[in-house]
Amino acid sequence: MQDYRDFIDEVLVSEEQIRVRVAELGKQISADYAGEDLLVVCLLRGGLTFAADLTRQLSIIHELDCMSLSSYGTGNYASSGNVRVNLDLITNIEGRHVLLVEDIADSGRTLSHVLTLLSTREPKSLRSCVLLDKKMRREVPMVADYVGFDIPDKYVFGYGIDIDERYRHLSFIGGADLDKYIKPE
Ligand code: IMP
Ligand code: MG
Repeated sequence: MQDYRDFIDEVLVSEEQIRVRVAELGKQISADYAGEDLLVVCLLRGGLTFAADLTRQLSIIHELDCMSLSSYGTGNYASSGNVRVNLDLITNIEGRHVLLVEDIADSGRTLSHVLTLLSTREPKSLRSCVLLDKKMRREVPMVADYVGFDIPDKYVFGYGIDIDERYRHLSFIGGADLDKYIKPE
């Protein structure tokens, strides 16, 4: 397995920057949903680390559920927008306040697909929170309600975000130099 140090360009967001920003988001979300019954929906697997940290910064009582999607028919390191549900929610979201938690908004296809799907189940409200937003990459109009960091058009990894399913465990977000990266066999 290739060491990330062999292909990292730069640390895009440090562990400390993440910690501070996640605490701010937790505070803001807690204020916005004060007195409400909130269901946090973590999009697996990229949103896992973020959701785990974010929910521990919420001072309001809430529930957590998870959903897993995959996009198919995709090229290298880009989402095609053909999204399939691998694992659906256990919770019935009808009449609930739902907050989707995702790692990255890139073309916007994944989130807009999930938002459309979940809205058919008639939640009371439906919002999204992304750790990273690559706004200049947007191909469909999708605006996240909460954004951790706006980042440039760059392939990133760490803090839940993978390259070929690896490097999710890193506690910072790195930018990858894909010319130096060797794809596993
Ligand atoms: P979208 O559907 O194009 O917005 O893509 C969103 C999904 O693509 C995210 O949930 C990630 O799984 C993946 N993705 C987008 N950019 C990156 C990246 O830089 N590194 C790793 N995964 C990414
Ligand atoms: Mg993802």
